[in-house]
Amino acid sequence: MMTDDIEQVLYSKEDLAACVERLGKQISKDYAGKEIFAVGILKGAVVFFSDLVRAIDVPVQLDFMAASSYGLSTETSGTVKILKDLDFSVEGKHVLIIEDIIDSGLTLSYLLKNFKDRKPASVKLCALLDKPERRKAEVNIDYCGYSVPDEFLVGYGLDYAEKYRNLPFIGILKKEIYAK
Ligand code: IMP
Ligand code: MG
Repeated sequence: MMTDDIEQVLYSKEDLAACVERLGKQISKDYAGKEIFAVGILKGAVVFFSDLVRAIDVPVQLDFMAASSYGLSTETSGTVKILKDLDFSVEGKHVLIIEDIIDSGLTLSYLLKNFKDRKPASVKLCALLDKPERRKAEVNIDYCGYSVPDEFLVGYGLDYAEKYRNLPFIGILKKEIYAK
């Protein structure tokens, strides 16, 4: 069973639902009268993204982007590549980037700079998790779910070697799994 590989559950399904509700309310309030262009960062953010957009009650256009991160390891490579770009132009749009976790910050600091050149009306970042201890590049998180300890986390979209994304909770992965 996948759950046998989990050291400790950090956020239950219920915790996550409450967190998404809180973020959705705040975002709906801040964007009242506007339309959001939501950008989900593939693949880690898809579970959070799909729950969050349904907790927002202003119109939301959906698009996705894929950037290189860890590959099959637990350490970031430091170089960021856009593997899949947006389908639509963001010029004049209120962009809300939705990400699973900000770790070193390298991916998002690169993407945020890249977005500024695309002439959006505004750009904000919503991240479910923030791992501040590991930060290498400064990133301003406008909407943050939880600040987490420096542990390798899986579930609710987060993977280790493409596994565990479909766990309904977020847990700490047993070290023996990735030390093998
Ligand atoms: P950053 O560029 O180091 O901030 O990397 C962000 C990306 O690394 C996230 O989108 C995740 O895909 C991945 N990542 C960072 N920490 C974890 C973790 O604890 N578990 C799973 N993936 C992680
Ligand atoms: Mg990942």
